Amino acid sequence: MKAVVDQDLCISCGACIDVCPEVFDWNDEEKAHAIVDEVPDGQEDQAREATEGCPTEAIKIS
Ligand code: F3S
Repeated sequence: MKAVVDQDLCISCGACIDVCPEVFDWNDEEKAHAIVDEVPDGQEDQAREATEGCPTEAIKIS
């Protein structure tokens, strides 16, 4: 599973980083980005929760 944050949609609310810090963190533009190429085993549910919880639907998982 991969996760990608659309930088144009992220409003820096931070919810994804709270829910799934093993996948998401802040970048230099103070927006969220995925810090791993693949969502680690055992983190899929958190990644999905982060995706569903993003207020601007900025996160796409595939
Ligand atoms: Fe940005 Fe959505 Fe995360 S607005 S900080 S990608 S929850």
